[in-house]
Amino acid sequence: MSEERVNFGSKIGMILATAGGAVGLGNVWRFPYMAGDNGGAAFILVYLFCIFLLGVPCMVSEFIIGRHGAANTYRAYSKLSEGRPWKYVGLLGVLTGFLIMGYYAVVSGWCLQYVYASVVGQLHGDPAYVKDYFRIFSGDAVRPVFWLAVIILLSLFVIVHGVRGGIERASKLMMPTLFVLLLVIVVASCLLPGGVKGIEFLFKPDFGKFDQGVFLGALGQSFYSLSIAMGCISTYASYYSRQTNLFNSAVQVALVDTVVAILAGLMIFPAAFSVGVSPDSGPSLIFITLPNVFNEAFATMPLLGWVVSLMFYALLSLAALTSLMSLHEVSTAFLVEELHISRKKGAWVVAVATMLIGTVCSLSLGAGRGPVFGGKTLFDWFDFLTGQIFLPVGGFLTCIFLGWVVPRKIVKDEFTNWGTLRGRFFGVYLFLMRFVSPLAILAIFLHQFGLF
Ligand code: PHE
Repeated sequence: MSEERVNFGSKIGMILATAGGAVGLGNVWRFPYMAGDNGGAAFILVYLFCIFLLGVPCMVSEFIIGRHGAANTYRAYSKLSEGRPWKYVGLLGVLTGFLIMGYYAVVSGWCLQYVYASVVGQLHGDPAYVKDYFRIFSGDAVRPVFWLAVIILLSLFVIVHGVRGGIERASKLMMPTLFVLLLVIVVASCLLPGGVKGIEFLFKPDFGKFDQGVFLGALGQSFYSLSIAMGCISTYASYYSRQTNLFNSAVQVALVDTVVAILAGLMIFPAAFSVGVSPDSGPSLIFITLPNVFNEAFATMPLLGWVVSLMFYALLSLAALTSLMSLHEVSTAFLVEELHISRKKGAWVVAVATMLIGTVCSLSLGAGRGPVFGGKTLFDWFDFLTGQIFLPVGGFLTCIFLGWVVPRKIVKDEFTNWGTLRGRFFGVYLFLMRFVSPLAILAIFLHQFGLF
């Protein structure tokens, strides 16, 4: 099977596709806030440390597993573990990817609704109106489900066109567009009167804020932002060619992801500070706070405000869609290869299943006011289980697997492309994988339950 498996057609396509999977809503709604609130440039430094010293090695490991296996994540793990139960770690990755897709698609659908709302000018009004708009919309039984279906169908359209004709082509179009939109909004935002205060807030170094909690928060965010342990990275890597330099590629993907996160901060903070609003994080930032900020900041130039708002939600939709595609591919590759069905059928099954899960999640937020277990709606449970349990468990086991279980020769061959690259960092990489990364992930895991 591996001989006839397709590869990405170009290096740039491969990097853009992988970076598209990594760049998502997390870059916009979590990173800037964490940076601003936890010491500005000091936080950014620590974040860079986490990304490059811990995130990149974990990404390289997933690249190794994926490319070596040339198969879906479950099969890739089982190829490397010869009958031992490690394949279940791969299965956990596939499951995590699938479950995340359910609720990620709901929020992605909201972004599309806001593109629509910007176009028809529904987002204008006082702050209370915008807040109500979001509450009423997200709790509605029909509209969120409609947009959920639309965004899943868009992802489906890309996935059925395959790796080169679908994912790679779409990423080559969508990622540069995302960048241009981001840059234009950054410029518009930074030029607003009083915007400098926002830049200061984001970058002013304050090492005093620093404690263990901030460090572990940065670490958790860096893994989430790079889409580690969700099956996405290893699935995309299964389409990498034997010439791909895995270490360099991981660094490039991490750079794109980090640059987008920092630019997102430069887009949000100057606008927010220009109108004296202090930004928060999560859905309320992008669906409540920012529409208000745009309304106020561009009050004297309504046309510009309209354009900025539209561009902002288009950008969010693109970021969400490329991540959704990477999640869609995880389960599709799994179904196609394990059940021997066509790509088209596999992609449809994933789309329909995601629509069902997404619909239940969406209804749990409003209309159905679905069951609340242990104080969390179904939506919150998905977020909690995948982000706080499956991600660290999967990430930890992957480090142990690559560091201690997979024969060192295979790891080195993949790292150095069978001896054709010097692999200067191999020793450091292996050390990090064996000792530092698993301990760091364990610490995040225990910390979030107050045990460390
Ligand atoms: N990395 C994405 C983000 O920053 C989140 C994500 C994780 C998306 C896993 C898809 C899969 O938003």
